[in-house]
Amino acid sequence: MVLRDAAQRLRAPTDLAGALAAVVGAAHTLSDPGVVSSFTTDWTRRFQGPARMVVRPADTAEVAAVIRACSDAGAGLVIQGGNTGLVGGSVPAAHPGPGGPPVLMSMTRLDGIGPVDKVASQITVGAGVTLAALQKAARAAGLEFPVDLAARDSATIGGMIATNAGGVHVIRYGGTRAQVVGVEAVLADGTVISRLGGLVKDNTGYDLSQLLVGSEGTLGVVTAARLRLVPHLPERAVLLLGLESTHAATELVAHLRTRLSGLSAAEIFYREGMELVCRHSGLTPPWPEPSAVYLLIECSGRTSPLEEMMEALSDLEVDDAATAVATDPSGIERLWAYRERHTESVSALGVPHKLDITLPLGALGEFEPAVRARVEEVAPGSTAILWGHVGDGNIHVNVVGPGPEDETVDFAVLELVAGLGGSISAEHGIGRAKTAWLGLSRSESEVAAMSAIKTALDPQGILNPGVLLA
Ligand code: FAD
Ligand code: MLT
Ligand code: ZN
Repeated sequence: MVLRDAAQRLRAPTDLAGALAAVVGAAHTLSDPGVVSSFTTDWTRRFQGPARMVVRPADTAEVAAVIRACSDAGAGLVIQGGNTGLVGGSVPAAHPGPGGPPVLMSMTRLDGIGPVDKVASQITVGAGVTLAALQKAARAAGLEFPVDLAARDSATIGGMIATNAGGVHVIRYGGTRAQVVGVEAVLADGTVISRLGGLVKDNTGYDLSQLLVGSEGTLGVVTAARLRLVPHLPERAVLLLGLESTHAATELVAHLRTRLSGLSAAEIFYREGMELVCRHSGLTPPWPEPSAVYLLIECSGRTSPLEEMMEALSDLEVDDAATAVATDPSGIERLWAYRERHTESVSALGVPHKLDITLPLGALGEFEPAVRARVEEVAPGSTAILWGHVGDGNIHVNVVGPGPEDETVDFAVLELVAGLGGSISAEHGIGRAKTAWLGLSRSESEVAAMSAIKTALDPQGILNPGVLLA
């Protein structure tokens, strides 16, 4: 028996390669090491691991056949969309398990965009459609897909559903979960489940579509999604304010929430981030004297939201010398660039430790200085750059300095967050980066329940092994 298993393992790679080529075509089975390696390192360059080969199925039937072939061969399968995820979930583990390196399945060929259903304000798209392509299709029909994030040109809808991506408009519309009406997905045994009928109300038992949202490719492979669209609001106004502290920013956002009907983003960043972004991107700072804290507020509507914005600020003491406003597209883009270019600027500095956390809003003022002190304590001389979606209590703590495999700073920050009642992942997920610390945010019984669901749907553990659940 042991000998037979060993013989099967030895035979599996070549047999599997043939089986996969028969499913997707030889042109879409990639095994050249140079080509494969471009899929096996993540966006941050912190996570990488070997893959047997890359397969690029074209549709749901091919996805199902790929999964069945891997299941028959006992091979693990890593699912990849745009590979913009920031927790290592879209690439293989650095050290493969006893079954050897997994197959990497790229979903980008599932890029069909259905017609906009104007009656329902919904659209059905393939999992490999990029966020930018979806936004374009929605806008052409006078509508909008309300989730937005800086990786829009590469991030796919499948990846956004798998990670329950947040982005900059959660404060107004909620995250990806809130936009998902239903999904089509292939389970680990190759069966297809599909809820693409567009029913907004449907109380017929477990909501399997929502179970897949945020499951990080561990329970099923999303192949298509039915999504909610909202009205496109053509008039926008963006305000950038210099403030003294995080506490001042959370107080101001609390005030603006009660006054601004069109509030669509409330973002925070700090002096060190502004200086880094300007250095890296060649942008000129918005005003000569640097501020300690920058708060970016966006409002949108059918008519200009500027008047409402100015009125909401009129009863506050605002420093005119540290205020910038834009209502035209290029001015708006310029103000957003200070915020959106943080991710690439930090990566240009080194391989970052990215700790995407969320806290009760009332605790952010205390957390910001505390986390800087903690980072300096455990990783002296490193650079900490913070920014985030302040309206959601979501701060991105980025630390450059410690080696990619040194997890001291990761643990120190996440432990601090848990102690203040926060969560170790706000919007990026657990991936491979945070599996060891899931217990800081989830109780033992919750992790046991999640493991039971995983075992029920994927008893062989072939989908994204080592992601989310250790
Ligand atoms: P990938 O990186 O390819 O995969 C991410 C995870 O989803 C992996 O676990 C993968 O296995 C799984 N997966 C992918 N496709 C499928 C599928 N079809 N079925 C099942 N599982 C699948 N994230 C935010 O939440 N908010 C932000 O504001 C934000 N801004 C970003 C800005 C930049 C510049 C970058 C580089 C990233 C940003 N991200 C942000 C992170 C990232 O863009 C999101 O996590 C996005 O949802 C990942 O999509 P993807 O297609 O690239 O997925
Ligand atoms: C952001 O808000 O900028 C993104 O989540 C990406 C990041 O954290 O780097
Ligand atoms: Zn973010």
